[in-house]
Amino acid sequence: MNILILGSGGREHAFALKLSQSPKVTQLFVAPGNAGTNEIATNLSIDPLDFSAVKSAVLACNIRMVLVGPEAPLVAGIHDYFLKDPQLEEIPVIGPNQAGAQLEGSKDFSKKFMLKYGIPTAQYQTFTKENLAGGYAFLESLKAPYVLKADGLAAGKGVLILEDLDTAKSELKEMLTNEKFGTASSKVVIEEFLAGIELSVFVLTDGVHYKILPSAKDYKRIGEGDTGLNTGGMGAISPVPFANQTFIDKVEDRVIIPTIKGLQVEGIDYRGFIFIGLMNVNNDPYVIEYNVRMGDPETEVVIPRIDADLVDLFDGVANQNLDEKSFVVNPKTAATVMLVSGGYPEEYEKGKQISGLESETESILFHAGTSSRDGKVVTSGGRVMAVTSFGDDFEAALKASYKTIQNLHFEKMYYRKDLGFDLKG
Ligand code: AMP
Ligand code: GLY
Repeated sequence: MNILILGSGGREHAFALKLSQSPKVTQLFVAPGNAGTNEIATNLSIDPLDFSAVKSAVLACNIRMVLVGPEAPLVAGIHDYFLKDPQLEEIPVIGPNQAGAQLEGSKDFSKKFMLKYGIPTAQYQTFTKENLAGGYAFLESLKAPYVLKADGLAAGKGVLILEDLDTAKSELKEMLTNEKFGTASSKVVIEEFLAGIELSVFVLTDGVHYKILPSAKDYKRIGEGDTGLNTGGMGAISPVPFANQTFIDKVEDRVIIPTIKGLQVEGIDYRGFIFIGLMNVNNDPYVIEYNVRMGDPETEVVIPRIDADLVDLFDGVANQNLDEKSFVVNPKTAATVMLVSGGYPEEYEKGKQISGLESETESILFHAGTSSRDGKVVTSGGRVMAVTSFGDDFEAALKASYKTIQNLHFEKMYYRKDLGFDLKG
């Protein structure tokens, strides 16, 4: 079977590598892909949001399954586009339809959903510019720090955490009346701050059955000690040492089961991944957010730990018999360290040649912002490459990745050297 992966990051390279190992795959395509996916699959120069270009490629390349990496095409309705087209309707799309994608596409929707189905989350209220005074009053009723979330997709930048009430009020006004995050902030969710340690749990579902995938923890801030600006993710570890079976059982009972049931009650036929961002508050899980896809760089540690034919699992999603499928999880810990362009997540330069890629290593190099130029691999994005290694514990896994990184270089390369600092002891 020919398969198309939509996206271009380390997540898509990790999926491509796993899928390329399946005996069920004839040809693998990635759109648009990167220099890494180009080595194991065929890159197609297509924007995943250009659905008619995706359709032409699917028909021209005889593609029989589509895996959607990022959220934007899902929120824009790519799954529905396939279902409505007689030439595409039989081709399974791994990723929810537009109704399901609202779990990530609208914070207000996801908060209402959690409240309706009794899923533990921070208390909240939603405001529009017509009710700015109500927003101020709600902020006054909360304790610092204040959490403001743009309702819509804002490229991971739509959440503000503010220490001071006056700043929170002025930022709320900026979001609502001056569209600080464009139309994404025409509605704003204000919520209670949850103090704890974050982790993520991933679920694959066919809409009825589900499989819980390994947990992971990512490091979002650019600076060591979790300081500075938020990024897409600077590294990740799987499993999360404190997410023991008792904790995961609580997540299953309190979050996963009511989420799957809630989707069914809402009439949402959800086929794909659910990424549950959690806060562990005194050993109780609270949902911070849902994403309707796998995480990046979490995929680069979760997927390598899964010993299965991924196509078989995706067939289970498509045919709604995921309960008949199984996989084994590698008990070792996987860690990934993201190499980024100097300056990221603000301005950075591109086109820097990456050296050392041919060095002997036990790590797996997942390309993210890379492209090929004159037979060389050059940087083409902020997050450039995720270096994944296995170990008996997270410290051993990280040590192996840091060792591999000693051989890799590009001008102004930066990475965090302190991953796992919060998990020690
Ligand atoms: P989100 O986009 O909803 O994941 O929010 C981005 C980040 O803000 C999360 O990864 C958390 O670190 C933080 N955050 C979001 N909501 C809360 C909350 N209610 N309490 C504490 N931190 C939060
Ligand atoms: N690493 C966080 C995300 O993929 O949203």
